[in-house]
Amino acid sequence: MLLSATQVLWLLLPALVWAGDVAYTVPASAPSSATVLDPAPVGVSFEFFAFPSYFTNVTATNQCLKNFQTLTGVWPPIRIGGTTQDRATYDPATSAYVVYTVASPTDAPSALTFGSSFMALAATYPGTVVVGLNRGHDNITNTIAAAQVAKSSMNNLLAIELGNEPESIASGDWTPAVDAQSQDDWDILVGSALGTTNIIQAGNSNSAPPTWGAAELIATENATSQSYVHDYAHHNYPGGTVISLMTHSSTVSNVAQFEADIAAAVGTGKEYVLGETNSVSGGGAATVSPTFGVGLWTMDYVLQASLINIKRTYYHHGTVGLCYYCWWGRYDMGAPYYGAYAATAAMAGGSYISMLDDGTTNNAAYVIYDSAQKPLRALLYNSNYYNGTGTRGSQSFVLSNLTLSTIQAKRLTAASALSRQDEGSIPTFGGQSFTNGACTISGTEAFESTSVVRGTATFAVGDSEALLVYLQ
Ligand SMILES: *[C@@H]1O[C@H](CO)[C@@H](O)[C@H](O)[C@H]1NC(C)=O
Ligand SMILES: *[C@@H]1O[C@H](CO)[C@@H](O)[C@H](O)[C@H]1NC(C)=O
Ligand SMILES: *[C@@H]1O[C@H](CO)[C@@H](O)[C@H](O)[C@H]1NC(C)=O
Ligand SMILES: *[C@@H]1O[C@H](CO)[C@@H](O)[C@H](O)[C@H]1NC(C)=O
Ligand SMILES: *[C@@H]1O[C@H](CO)[C@@H](O)[C@H](O)[C@H]1NC(C)=O
Repeated sequence: MLLSATQVLWLLLPALVWAGDVAYTVPASAPSSATVLDPAPVGVSFEFFAFPSYFTNVTATNQCLKNFQTLTGVWPPIRIGGTTQDRATYDPATSAYVVYTVASPTDAPSALTFGSSFMALAATYPGTVVVGLNRGHDNITNTIAAAQVAKSSMNNLLAIELGNEPESIASGDWTPAVDAQSQDDWDILVGSALGTTNIIQAGNSNSAPPTWGAAELIATENATSQSYVHDYAHHNYPGGTVISLMTHSSTVSNVAQFEADIAAAVGTGKEYVLGETNSVSGGGAATVSPTFGVGLWTMDYVLQASLINIKRTYYHHGTVGLCYYCWWGRYDMGAPYYGAYAATAAMAGGSYISMLDDGTTNNAAYVIYDSAQKPLRALLYNSNYYNGTGTRGSQSFVLSNLTLSTIQAKRLTAASALSRQDEGSIPTFGGQSFTNGACTISGTEAFESTSVVRGTATFAVGDSEALLVYLQ
């Protein structure tokens, strides 16, 4: 029998994978190695002293958080803390949220007090809140008083931290062992004063494990101190350039440093989170952190973190008006918000996540599964750097074992990896953007359609782009 050229092509199509294409079989159901997802894995951290400003004096805050709730049905988890939590003293007499003086509006205070209204404000947030309290001053009476106000006024209180990055606030003889003993003692004293177990977000170091971290801390705990721990947290700021941050294989290696600590936490039956994180420490790097390329890092990083069982990733937001990595400010959106939004859209309503690529290349492919373990979405990411000069390269991702006949997808893109919304180069996700100052969605939602032939479809993803593929 002679076959026509069309018939031959039809027969060959499933195998038509060009050199340079990457091809993945989408599992029909979640593999046993897939990781259980938190309902809201993408979180936001607010610097302690700046939290009231974000919530009362920065218009975009509520809408930026609400946009995630619209996707997932759950308000994103927030954490309030940071360097200034260890400079803060609870003052029951003040009616103010926070009281401090600074030389310039973009300075962080070296000392501050806060009142019970601080916790009342945190209590108004419809999502869960982790509140970071002071251990650096070594005044447990003051910290217990603050914890009692938090506990009694906040129905949304998820956990309390006792000290932020203890390795950097204390002097040289404050070793991991000395700090662990202090944490263990404070967990018991604060937890028992509240009459509440599972209440402390423990750890909170920024220095890398295993010297500082959950495994090291857990090894020092007895059953009593451990009973007061809700979860273990670490901080992380990978740093580097736009290229190094956005490169998928670098993100995979960077996040992998927490694997042993995650296993240690899981061994105690507790969760593990990145309690404070962002691209570059100290508010970000001016020419790196606000870029779209770092937005792509933001997306890949939380997917990768979720993949290795980091339950929530809280991206830090510092001083209003001097914060290069912030997702929004008073006047402008940051390009990283788009990556966080795309990651939230990818995981929304998902129950499991797995990765199809091996983590060693510039191409990433994640699959998110529903509660019945059926594939819900795939997130394809081409992390090759495109800076706007010359021709933009493209990567073909060939997905097979698809069940739909037509697949819809949303593209996350911008003019280049160096695009910044505050410089007028506005990213889009599914054709839509977020307005400066308000964080409302603008533009018409746009899906791209791709035909599936014999269970296979090919998706082109440009250098420094991602594509969210809807599998149901
Ligand atoms: C492809 O799909 C079929 C039917 O849904 C399923 O039996 C098979 O296991 C899938 N292949 C893989 C690798 O998951
Ligand atoms: C609110 O923001 C403005 C700047 O837009 C600033 O001048 C003012 O002090 C802020 N108020 C509070 C309470 O933070
Ligand atoms: C510790 O806190 C308590 C309660 O707020 C306060 O009365 C006391 O003066 C503080 N101690 C020191 C040494 O600051
Ligand atoms: C647990 O450790 C704490 C110190 O962190 C100690 O005070 C307490 O006695 C220990 N409890 C038991 C049952 O060993
Ligand atoms: C962009 O990359 C090209 C090389 O691909 C380089 O020659 C050029 O200087 C870069 N431009 C910017 C703005 O970084």
